[in-house]
Amino acid sequence: MKIAILPGDGIGPEVIQQEIRVLENISDIFGLDLQFEEYPIGGVAIRDSGSPLPAETLEGCLDSVAVLLGAVGDPEFDDLLPDKRPEIGLLQLRQQLGGYANIRPAKSFASLVDNSPLRPEIFEGTDLVIVRELLGDVYFGEPRGFSEDLSAAFNTMRYSVSEVERVSKIAFEMARQRKKKVTSVDKSNVLESSRLWRETVIRVSADYPDVKLEHIYVDACAMHLVTDPVQFDIILTGNLFGDILSDEAAVLTGSLGMLTSSTVGGKVDLYEPVHGSAPDIAGENIANPLGAIGCAAMCMRQTFGNNNAANAIESAIARVIKEGFRTSDMTPGPGNTEVLCDEMGELVSRYSVEEAHVAYSFHAV
Ligand code: IPM
Ligand code: MN
Repeated sequence: MKIAILPGDGIGPEVIQQEIRVLENISDIFGLDLQFEEYPIGGVAIRDSGSPLPAETLEGCLDSVAVLLGAVGDPEFDDLLPDKRPEIGLLQLRQQLGGYANIRPAKSFASLVDNSPLRPEIFEGTDLVIVRELLGDVYFGEPRGFSEDLSAAFNTMRYSVSEVERVSKIAFEMARQRKKKVTSVDKSNVLESSRLWRETVIRVSADYPDVKLEHIYVDACAMHLVTDPVQFDIILTGNLFGDILSDEAAVLTGSLGMLTSSTVGGKVDLYEPVHGSAPDIAGENIANPLGAIGCAAMCMRQTFGNNNAANAIESAIARVIKEGFRTSDMTPGPGNTEVLCDEMGELVSRYSVEEAHVAYSFHAV
């Protein structure tokens, strides 16, 4: 089974390498025949070939069962307009793969609570998932651009009923597997697109009478995330609000480096850690690979339907944290062992194999 690997920019290659290491090491145990094929995207691809999403990259992704992406973004291109920057490669890839629901879980780890700037009593027990619409909104709405004399610029926040319907269904289905609550986030006191969003979500909710639906304005949601995050189960929201709220939700997990995401609903599932390319620490082997490795677990569960493999990786991640191993972003304190990116990858990999053997022996019995 072919998996497309898109390391991308900044710390992308470092964290992706650890993600592959884990998958390679457990694949035998679960009888998975994984083939990794690497392609350029983002700034690396622009330097290579002039395009942030070369045709061979897109073809390679479409020809795979899943895509694992590192990060995209490079300060070298900061002066360029959005349509020439590395980020456009990722946006085009998302569009071409067609996945419209971006799933971003944020769960607090008991052993990492000291790591957050928030008081533990506020966020302990947080276990939420942001379902972010990924192909609409101001990211793709037309018209967009600059006025002729460059004295103004504009983007269009736009949602169609069908776009809201399809992502809402994903959110309600997920809620059914969890705590049966959806909080839809909008700005319907000001924006028409949000008004349509809210009305559509309410209509879809009629098919899910067992799921509780609440609505909250995005500004209030931003506050609730850091004052009472435990109230949330599924947060359903649009592309821009979801982008912002998911970085905020990262403080609940202890570090942005921990957050994973998957994009589903399209031709090929796409997995990317939420942290960006972090150019300031790139190449130093100090990045946190746990977000990327967590993506491998999500991929096993969602694309491969292999819960044992996913559980093995997730248990291994929980174990390294519990045993006090920390990369520098996880503010190592007394009693912790600070490790480098590849050391963290090595540990998780070893523990994943051990956990896999445990899962496998249970399974065999
Ligand atoms: C994210 C990122 C991307 C986004 C960028 C790199 C285009 O911030 O995945 O959260 O805005 O969607
Ligand atoms: Mn973002």
